[in-house]
Amino acid sequence: MEHLEINQRAWDRRTEIHAESSFYNVTGFIKGDSTLNSIEINQLGDVKDKSLLHLQCHFGLDSLSLARLGASVTGVDLSAVAINKANELALTTNLNATFICSDVLQLRQVDNQQYDMVFSSYGVLCWLPELTTWAKVIADSLKSGGQFHLVEFHPFHDVMAGYPYFNTHSPFHESESTYTENSGDEEQNIVTWAHSISEVLTALIDAGLVISQFNEHDYSPYDCFDGLQETSSGKFQLIQNNEPVPMLYSLVATKP
Ligand SMILES: C[S@@+](CC[C@H](N)C(=O)[O-])C[C@H]1O[C@@H](n2cnc3c(N)ncnc32)[C@H](O)[C@@H]1O
Repeated sequence: MEHLEINQRAWDRRTEIHAESSFYNVTGFIKGDSTLNSIEINQLGDVKDKSLLHLQCHFGLDSLSLARLGASVTGVDLSAVAINKANELALTTNLNATFICSDVLQLRQVDNQQYDMVFSSYGVLCWLPELTTWAKVIADSLKSGGQFHLVEFHPFHDVMAGYPYFNTHSPFHESESTYTENSGDEEQNIVTWAHSISEVLTALIDAGLVISQFNEHDYSPYDCFDGLQETSSGKFQLIQNNEPVPMLYSLVATKP
């Protein structure tokens, strides 16, 4: 459990930095901008009147963007600072959403509801030591016929950055500054794990979910890693030997 304390401290501080950043553009969000990208908008489809559980929601910008589209959203995050900020933004924008401060792997101890949809995106899995419990939390949180939607950074990029592809089951302890433009020299201590694509798919299948879509994408909508080039508007690519490397994958898994 030591990793939870270390990562919680890091994300508490990162939330303060992120909330002030142009990267997250809170002012634009308050004025009405959506923080969602076309990949998840197209994949999620119509969310109006759907109950939606957003795992690792950070400080709620995507959750509240989904609430603006008519979803009844519950966001979950480990960081109390992030959850406080999400509640503050819900009040400011007069949007209705519920936010829970919890470790995602222990969520069912504090929330036993079942939802039409579960969603998680962009930089979520590396904070979790194992995915068996994660997938079970997702399966238990879905109604029958409900769908899980994931959009995640591709491990191919992590391998190119020097991380292993497979989960070594021993964590990486690092000190790193965050990805927003205002991070400065300040570093936070973090603990992460690698997760191969087969580990993700197998965990979901073993939890009883049926994978109905799987896609890989050659760009990131965020300029959040070293060496990316904006090759078209809002698309950031890592070019190797004149070809883009995979940056994201996305999937849909359905509970029978
Ligand atoms: C990179 S952010 C997710 C990005 C998010 N899509 C965004 O930009 O708004 C990762 C989030 O995972 C949360 N997190 C890390 N470990 C967690 C855990 N064990 N349980 C719940 N949330 C966790 C962090 O607090 C952070 O808010």
